[in-house]
Amino acid sequence: MSPTAAIRRKPHTPPVSASPFPYNPGSLLSVNDLSLDELNHVLERATALEAQDPLTRDHILAKRRVALLFYEASTRTRTSFELAAKALGADTALVSNLSSSIEKGESLKDTGLNLRALGAEAIILRHSSSGGAWLLEESTRLPILNAGDGMHEHPTQALLDLRTILAHLRPGVKEVGPETLAGVTVTITGDILHSRVARSNMLLLPRLGAQVVLCGSKELLPEIDLSGWPGVSIERNFEAALERSQIAMMLRIQAERLAGLQLDLEEYKAHYQLTGERLARLAPEAVVLHPGPIIRGLEITGGVADGPQSAILEQVTHGLAIRMAVIERALGAGTPAGKTAGPAKKTTPQQKKGARA
Ligand code: MLT
Repeated sequence: MSPTAAIRRKPHTPPVSASPFPYNPGSLLSVNDLSLDELNHVLERATALEAQDPLTRDHILAKRRVALLFYEASTRTRTSFELAAKALGADTALVSNLSSSIEKGESLKDTGLNLRALGAEAIILRHSSSGGAWLLEESTRLPILNAGDGMHEHPTQALLDLRTILAHLRPGVKEVGPETLAGVTVTITGDILHSRVARSNMLLLPRLGAQVVLCGSKELLPEIDLSGWPGVSIERNFEAALERSQIAMMLRIQAERLAGLQLDLEEYKAHYQLTGERLARLAPEAVVLHPGPIIRGLEITGGVADGPQSAILEQVTHGLAIRMAVIERALGAGTPAGKTAGPAKKTTPQQKKGARA
């Protein structure tokens, strides 16, 4: 055998390049960027910052610059990120697609580079394209906080949902681990197809032992292979799902993303609306969550939204504490001595499925 033939026959394994994301250890692109230790650190800091005297808290990031870059409408996420940054003493600048050069066609990359040139030390981004936060991070190398990218992820929403769930079902728990939510079923019902909230929760909650049940019609929850998603399953019958749930998370139908999909809303309500009657009969102890905006009379009745089982407004309040903690982490403040703020896992939009603590 000639030496050349031997070389040719050698099995060739192409080098596997590790994902460089997140480039910046302060970024939060996906819930999977947080190891269990970092998740605990964020929860612990959220509690500490919430309890801290506002007059000392606002020294933590005094005069640091944080930009909010919003390409989609938002009430809760934008306001709570802004108030959270301000509560830590940071200067904030809001850029939205309706009142900036984005309207004139400036790219996400150029907008990000200009914000960096203006001294932004972190950017909070909401973008209508899945992967937008990854692109901005790659272009600017700044810490990027993903405030929702298209139909992909919304990591701070899942963190605030988790904090709300813990407050109700595991009060007093100081540290979370793989068994913390064992025995808890979280049913997410509605427009799963378009929901970044559903995806981030599907990635986060099973890492702590919860079962996540997805519920919805075939149009809004197509048949999908869940083999890479431990702890996640589908139940089409809303009443059956509700009966086994400790948490009932309802989702809005995202009309802006339906792209021609025709839905019979009366039929949808008949099968999937969370009514007071259904709640009382099937899940009288369950905690009701919704990321907002709620559409009263569609996915949820006004009575349930305002009722005693609803923790919807508590979620909003938890969001402020969580966002203070992730902004502090982004700018490298509040890191315990000897620890780095860096993520344990690196992710791309394609590498989310099935990652565990
Ligand atoms: C989101 O930004 O994804 C929201 O919180 C949920 C929604 O828009 O319905």
